[in-house]
Amino acid sequence: MILSYRTLLLPLSLLAAVLASPQISWNPCNETEFPSAIPNDCGTLEVPLDYTDPESKPLALELLRVPALVRPSNGSILFNFGGPGEAARGTLSGYGPIFQQLTGGQYDLVAFDPRGTGNTLLFSCYTNELDILTYMLERNPANVSDTTLGRVWARGDVNANACLQNANETISLLSSTFVARDLISVVDALGEDELLRYWGTSYGTTLGATVASMFPGRIDKMVLDGVQNPHEYYNGVADIEKWTDSDKVFSGLFTTCIDAGERCPLNTLNQTAEELEQSVWDLIDDIKYYPISFGDFIFGYSELKGAIAQAFYAISAWPILAEQLTVLLNGTAEDHPELFNTGGAASQVATSTTIQSLAGIHCVDRKVRASFDEFSAAMEELYDTSRSYGDLTSALTADCAQWKVDPREPYEGNLHNIEVESPVLIIGNTWDSQTSIVSARNISASFPDSEVLQVHGYGHGSISIPSVCTVKEVSTYWTTGKLPESGRVCKDTARPYMNETWAGVLEELGAR
Ligand SMILES: *[C@@H]1O[C@H](CO)[C@@H](O)[C@H](O)[C@H]1NC(C)=O
Ligand SMILES: *[C@@H]1O[C@H](CO)[C@@H](O)[C@H](O)[C@H]1NC(C)=O
Ligand SMILES: *[C@@H]1O[C@H](CO)[C@@H](O)[C@H](O)[C@H]1NC(C)=O
Ligand SMILES: *[C@@H]1O[C@H](CO)[C@@H](O)[C@H](O)[C@H]1NC(C)=O
Ligand SMILES: *[C@@H]1O[C@H](CO)[C@@H](O)[C@H](O)[C@H]1NC(C)=O
Ligand SMILES: *[C@@H]1O[C@H](CO)[C@@H](O)[C@H](O)[C@H]1NC(C)=O
Ligand SMILES: *[C@@H]1O[C@H](CO)[C@@H](O)[C@H](O)[C@H]1NC(C)=O
Ligand SMILES: *[C@@H]1O[C@H](CO)[C@@H](O)[C@H](O)[C@H]1NC(C)=O
Repeated sequence: MILSYRTLLLPLSLLAAVLASPQISWNPCNETEFPSAIPNDCGTLEVPLDYTDPESKPLALELLRVPALVRPSNGSILFNFGGPGEAARGTLSGYGPIFQQLTGGQYDLVAFDPRGTGNTLLFSCYTNELDILTYMLERNPANVSDTTLGRVWARGDVNANACLQNANETISLLSSTFVARDLISVVDALGEDELLRYWGTSYGTTLGATVASMFPGRIDKMVLDGVQNPHEYYNGVADIEKWTDSDKVFSGLFTTCIDAGERCPLNTLNQTAEELEQSVWDLIDDIKYYPISFGDFIFGYSELKGAIAQAFYAISAWPILAEQLTVLLNGTAEDHPELFNTGGAASQVATSTTIQSLAGIHCVDRKVRASFDEFSAAMEELYDTSRSYGDLTSALTADCAQWKVDPREPYEGNLHNIEVESPVLIIGNTWDSQTSIVSARNISASFPDSEVLQVHGYGHGSISIPSVCTVKEVSTYWTTGKLPESGRVCKDTARPYMNETWAGVLEELGAR
């Protein structure tokens, strides 16, 4: 049983909000920083740095708002795009016109860069560039050789120690419990109806489940999209279920290529889908022994697996990957360095910020520590779950298993039976390499009245798959609260290699 927040608690807390909540002052965003077809607003909000300390220093959250198409708006929807470790403002700004359609145009769309991302509480466990570069270069996928697993494990201990020594204060403040409280602080400051409307993607679904279980009376409509199994996120030695469908996406690269005819460069090799897939597995094994030198940089196993994993996020990246694979298989890669240059040491150092944020946030949230044998067993399970992805997760898993910094406020709930007032809409893609639809069904079981909308396409999260049906179903949910009928599948999805884009979908909807 839950109390109706609206009827019983609203007057009192409204009063409290008026007395206590700071307001957000919005100004037009810097268009160099957030280029966009629509004018966005930017603002900051001071929240407690440490919610467990009544005397806490403030922390300035940086927010971005995409205004509703219709005025007056029905309030705000808050977004988190996952990682963890990804800044949110740029993503919201970039996808603003699409999210306006997906939410029916009646809501303001708001995102803040979560703690540990963007300019907010950034940290590094290493104090100089050489150590940072070493950290990055040692983050090898464990199956690159039969001696790497132990090295990755030993390195995880070094990383955990460095984070304890150099960043323990900051990392203890990055937990999802605090980000959940930040979401509620933003809702308070928005001064609307005191309820959180929320759209979380990927890790953002774990955050959504977390905030809903901590504040069930404060939740209005919620979309959980590209679902991570939150039980595994907190309580597993590794995230395993996430990769359930990754190898199906790998196969899909080739089956859909055949369907695409001339539009897919791999077809110049005259192979069947099965032959292409086998050729690329063989390539992945061969390149361990014979990495390619392009004169001033190397492309080897880690780079190839990384490129494939990166392209899995969205079919818009598949044509370039297919070009890379074509020349690799044809033995003519050396003639096309421009397809392979990953930016060298400078790019490694730049990327390290996001990688460290991901590890810092995930590991401080994770409750389980493990021995080498337990880690090794989890890695075996990962290899069995996904040949394409399994070993790419080894460094993060090794870091978290030996993590030494605890959160100021650990998550104490169990994420079962979360009773919120509005039914939750859950979205899972048929072939999502990062978050399987199995986890969408798993999280659905925790929200009694929820439904799962299945988007029948390839990519991570619904935003990666242009579809008129998704816009119709999801905008109906936001404008009327009506869930899709049980078992609904959106089949009108963009096909790989066919250059079917959101621009086309918006045009079909008469939006722009
Ligand atoms: C806008 O952002 C750019 C890039 O960060 C910066 O160089 C410029 O000074 C900013 N402009 C204003 C008015 O703050
Ligand atoms: C949402 O706002 C529109 C006007 O923009 C209004 O007509 C409608 O009644 C509002 N819906 C709700 C549920 O408040
Ligand atoms: C935690 O960080 C502080 C600096 O913020 C440092 O002085 C202290 O040594 C660190 N603690 C440990 C156990 O390394
Ligand atoms: C593929 O088949 C076409 C048409 O039969 C042929 O012209 C071409 O040389 C073949 N390419 C390869 C790489 O075998
Ligand atoms: C494959 O290699 C041959 C030369 O060995 C070259 O003529 C052909 O253009 C290459 N095909 C592609 C698709 O790069
Ligand atoms: C690991 O590497 C070995 C040797 O190259 C290969 O046979 C095996 O398929 C790989 N396993 C996974 C899960 O990547
Ligand atoms: C959800 O996943 C967790 C962790 O894998 C598992 O323990 C639980 O039984 C699952 N729940 C359902 C309903 O499948
Ligand atoms: C894809 O379509 C867009 C228009 O939607 C067009 O501008 C672009 O050139 C196309 N790209 C390719 C590779 O066909």
